[in-house]
Amino acid sequence: MKILVINGPNLNLLGVREPSIYGRETYFDLVDKINVYAKEIGVDVEVLQSNHEGELVDFIHRAYYTKVDGIVINPAAYTHTSVALLDAVKAVGIPTVEVHISDVSKREDFRQVSYIRKASLATIAGRGTNGYLEAMDLLLKEYKNDSSN
Ligand code: DQA
Repeated sequence: MKILVINGPNLNLLGVREPSIYGRETYFDLVDKINVYAKEIGVDVEVLQSNHEGELVDFIHRAYYTKVDGIVINPAAYTHTSVALLDAVKAVGIPTVEVHISDVSKREDFRQVSYIRKASLATIAGRGTNGYLEAMDLLLKEYKNDSSN
């Protein structure tokens, strides 16, 4: 199984940015954690990050051409604004799980809207960076349940 993990703007500054909300783990720590876990559960994983909306759309399109089986996406601030990311996930039809490190449901009003949620299998929020691993588990379970695999 091939999983693509996509991170949106400012997540490259994990560990530096608002540690009381996002924790002290760095982006490098996150990538490492995902790679180690992928090995453990036997999936191929690629982790990408961009601060640019169009590049995030390109990553999703690339997932289609490279036959990715599942996407884990933390669109960061674009969660709350981007119809383009929603449309991209709908366009490729790849099972997708939305992840947020913080519990967005307990934060500002403007964070209560999520466009990507409308095309996601599930949303995992407020579980810190472990949420990415939970999302991978969920996608793997779906993949195994899908009798065509
Ligand atoms: C975030 C939550 C978003 O509201 C915020 O804009 C982010 C990170 C999270 O992981 O908790 O950049 O997606």
